[in-house]
Amino acid sequence: MILSPRIRNPLSARIRATESPPIPAARAWAARYDGRAGPPLDLTQAVPGYPPPDALLAKLAEAAGSAACAGYGPIAGDAALREALAGEMSGFYGAAIAPAQVAITAGCNLAFAMVMQVLAAEGDTVLLPAPWYFNHRMALTMQGVRAIPVPTRPEDGFVPDPARIAELLAEHRPRAVVLVTPNNPTGAIYPPATIEEVAALCLRHGAFLVLDETYRDFLPADRSPPHGLFADPDWGDVLVHLYSFSKAYCVPGHRVGAIAAGGDVMAELEKALDTLQICPPRPAQSALAWAIPALATWRDGNRALMADRAETFRGLVGQLPGWRLDAIGTYFAYLRLPDSAPDAIRAAEILAAEKGLMTLPGPFFGPGQDRHLRLAFANAGEHILAQVPARLAAFS
Ligand SMILES: Cc1ncc(COP(=O)(O)O)c(C=O)c1O
Repeated sequence: MILSPRIRNPLSARIRATESPPIPAARAWAARYDGRAGPPLDLTQAVPGYPPPDALLAKLAEAAGSAACAGYGPIAGDAALREALAGEMSGFYGAAIAPAQVAITAGCNLAFAMVMQVLAAEGDTVLLPAPWYFNHRMALTMQGVRAIPVPTRPEDGFVPDPARIAELLAEHRPRAVVLVTPNNPTGAIYPPATIEEVAALCLRHGAFLVLDETYRDFLPADRSPPHGLFADPDWGDVLVHLYSFSKAYCVPGHRVGAIAAGGDVMAELEKALDTLQICPPRPAQSALAWAIPALATWRDGNRALMADRAETFRGLVGQLPGWRLDAIGTYFAYLRLPDSAPDAIRAAEILAAEKGLMTLPGPFFGPGQDRHLRLAFANAGEHILAQVPARLAAFS
């Protein structure tokens, strides 16, 4: 027979070296849950816990049904959305950002992966503060780029120390430093001075600063602008900025994100954009170009809603015997397990399988996280959050 004897195709060593998707792994533990502690509570994924407004859904439906949006579009995104985003960013950051400096992508995860194709080659290194956003590390591993952890500490509010970054820049000569602020998984908001100092260090060491501000729309209203980097006319020499429409506009399923970068990066980026996305999804681009100005008030309301939810959650879990709330902000709480509890992976498994509470254990976010759990409180209403303390009490 033609297929016999069977020869095993060796799969890529890089993909085999890449971690498995963490969220399905955590949810799989809950398959064993028998309901004894109440309904299952899923705090694994960073998704907004409310729907998009009807007017946005109507725009999406209209655009999805149009022949114009069925065709391929420009590689770096439709002009209307690039203009709308550049305009909104200019207002938010108090700086002039041009539409030509903005590219629209099929989600922020793809934005990161495409940017790294431009900045780093196989064998290069990139600094990632730990705990990190797991898909960043996965994307780097898939590309053969080594992530060097920059440890952060609860005592410092999980804000990386620029002095440590300076040492690692000198030691490893990485192609980029990645900062995520507000942070996933900790919710930490980095001070403007820290972000600016890291940018200056990157410039000095010939590295790029890749700044993922997916959660910027949920910063406290008095915290904008979160840094002054865009005010420097030469920002594109050091900064590559990432954004996601998934959270602020409640459209993660429509896959829209963005990259802001200088001319040199943009010129090379076009190759990655063309090869990996051809064009970003067209119906969502059309609807979001409308939504950026039209939904400004609705977004402000959500910022307030999320801030209230964070305060509610702080009140619920902040005083739980044995537990320590090490950080909370925007979408996430990062909780330290009681000393008597098992390590984070086992603890998350027990909470999911026996208490019906799905969380992500710290080790999914990098080294040194064995005592922490991430709880994405953003995706649950207050009636659900109110049930969390009783489930966590399993370890109190
Ligand atoms: C820091 C960060 N970047 C990027 C993403 C992915 O965004 P998108 O849905 O636009 O791919 C997420 C989603 O959780 C995130 O937390």
